[in-house]
Amino acid sequence: MPYQIEFATAADENRLRSIFLASDMAVVGDTEDHVVIKEDGSAYGGALLYQMDVDLFHLLTIVVQGDGRSHGLGSKLLQPMLQNPWRYCRDAVGDPQQSYRVTTVSRGSSRRFYQKNGLVDCAFDDLTEPFNRQCEVCPELIECGSAAMVYQGQ
Ligand SMILES: CC(C)(COP(=O)(O)OP(=O)(O)OC[C@H]1O[C@@H](n2cnc3c(N)ncnc32)[C@H](O)[C@@H]1OP(=O)(O)O)[C@@H](O)C(=O)NCCC(=O)NCCS
Repeated sequence: MPYQIEFATAADENRLRSIFLASDMAVVGDTEDHVVIKEDGSAYGGALLYQMDVDLFHLLTIVVQGDGRSHGLGSKLLQPMLQNPWRYCRDAVGDPQQSYRVTTVSRGSSRRFYQKNGLVDCAFDDLTEPFNRQCEVCPELIECGSAAMVYQGQ
């Protein structure tokens, strides 16, 4: 089925919120800063990129609707964001660079998904503030098994 990867609009807000909520996650910031994957006009997943430097991005969140998982939607959403983060980060500055990085903090349960998409483990110290310390005070640190990860764009 054809799908689109595009910035969310105000009309996607309720659907996006319910997808995030169903995974015990909240929509952070403006809906329109999120990128969504749509099929037949309906959003099935969303993600949010922050720009930390001209050549450094951080994937804050990515989620796919529960019953749509493991069918490749998450990878279809993530791949274009990794290949051209400037295009999928609202108000990104600078031209696409030859070499860049996209970091994230993965829940342990999502690590395979990120590995499948080309990210590798890195040290939390390799992340920019405040993401380098975001797990330090989390009461679920042990059971979550979070990991700092990075995608190296060439
Ligand atoms: C992580 C997530 C976005 C992946 O989306 P997806 O559409 O299932 O991704 P894909 O189909 O492209 O890849 C699926 C692979 O991801 C991995 N995976 C990680 N977490 C998974 C989960 N909860 N369910 C299914 N697969 C998961 C598996 O290796 C799976 O491969 P397999 O189907 O061959 O076993 C989705 O599972 C999700 O929304 N999870 C809940 C929110 C979350 O944890 N987000 C990440 C925050 S760090």
